[in-house]
Amino acid sequence: MAEIIFPKDFLWGAGTSSYQIEGAWKEAGKGESVWDVFSHIPGKVDNNENGDIACDHYHRYEEDILLMKELGLKVYRFSINWPRLFPKGFGEPNIDGMRFYDNLINGLLENGITPLVTLYHWELPQALMLNGGWENRETAEVFADYAEFCFRAYGDRVKKWTTFNEAWIVAYEGYVGKGQPPADKRNDHFAECMVSHHINIAHAKAVERFREVIGDGEIGIAQVIAPVYPDEDTKSNKAKALIADGILNRWYMDPLFFGKYPEDIISFNKQKYNFEFKPDADDLKFIKDNPCDYIGINHYSPFRAKDNGKDKLFDWEGCMWGAQKPERKYTGMNWEIEPQGIYDSIMRLHKDYGKPKLYITENGAAFDDENIVDGVVQDDNRVDFYKGYISACARAVQEGANLKGYIAWSLMDNFEWCRGYSKRFGIVRVDFATQKRTIKKSGRWYAAVIKNNGFEI
Ligand code: FCB
Repeated sequence: MAEIIFPKDFLWGAGTSSYQIEGAWKEAGKGESVWDVFSHIPGKVDNNENGDIACDHYHRYEEDILLMKELGLKVYRFSINWPRLFPKGFGEPNIDGMRFYDNLINGLLENGITPLVTLYHWELPQALMLNGGWENRETAEVFADYAEFCFRAYGDRVKKWTTFNEAWIVAYEGYVGKGQPPADKRNDHFAECMVSHHINIAHAKAVERFREVIGDGEIGIAQVIAPVYPDEDTKSNKAKALIADGILNRWYMDPLFFGKYPEDIISFNKQKYNFEFKPDADDLKFIKDNPCDYIGINHYSPFRAKDNGKDKLFDWEGCMWGAQKPERKYTGMNWEIEPQGIYDSIMRLHKDYGKPKLYITENGAAFDDENIVDGVVQDDNRVDFYKGYISACARAVQEGANLKGYIAWSLMDNFEWCRGYSKRFGIVRVDFATQKRTIKKSGRWYAAVIKNNGFEI
């Protein structure tokens, strides 16, 4: 038996996002977000489900705070639904929407839970999408105004902020793939680059405003960070892995730390898709000159790059969800379970980007609730997943990584985007018919980890 122990001030938490749990999609003056619109288009989400009601957290937040307290969470990561505050993205704020987050924040603080607020977890106001969304540079300025508004409204009580959740998903799934709005089948790699660049500008502008408004807090960005391993140890698989790593990781980290986009990906795009991405040097300087305080790592699974012989860089789906091998293990999303991946992600940022402060802002697993005894989900598979991944985090901390916290995804089962309600990530079960919440075995286990600041393995 080995003991896994974390530093004394380690921040343990759980996370959610507004669209995935709040519901009340058109209540009390709220405007439409792109996900309200997207999820109502038939065929976009499994079983044509949507987040209209979700976990009804908008009405049940008090009960949910008590659950968090029972779990002993030190921090709760949630997002603000932009069009709940500004129905069209800007202009007059919606007072009822403001009040909801006021109440939530106050409730958390009264129960000794630190709020960590994400400004953008994909809830772009639809009115802004109609104006070009993130392809339109103006959106960055409007975002900065919204961010500043939030800092002024809540910054007296909220000291921990995240600008964006997973810029890669917004850019790639929205403009090349099909999992994020607009997903209009353009397969447009140039738009993918522009969107990511405008998000970087928006992020830097928000950081700049944050420094002006809040003197004593911290602000960061939560990105997908994952190693890309060659599926097999061949020269062509390794070459694919390097490019995939550039597109997934370096494209998002290099501009923040070095003020440039990776050259190999710029040439790759030129060669393969015939466009040259040349952002303004002033933009790049601005992004680099407004560094944030930490990087949030959202990590679930490593990617596997394979030369699949198709006229594609490689098939993301083939990497992440397909190409399964009997000797590997997978979650209910068919995502590979490999704790080494989180260790490699942490150490990679540590070594390549100058030892930044890090949080794991998302990590967790979906599994079917196969075994329910007396109403409690016996999710030993999820407990094992967490044991493996949290142990790997501990190893990184021991080796000097500046990792300050771990936030489990998710506090509760919720609307899993294109997969609807079929995929359950919660450490708390939600019965969507009755909205009853029940802490799973993994939730009890995690509560003990928080209490003991570690566990035995
Ligand atoms: C991440 C998202 C989060 C959740 C998990 C499973 O990409 O940020 O909202 O859906 O995946």
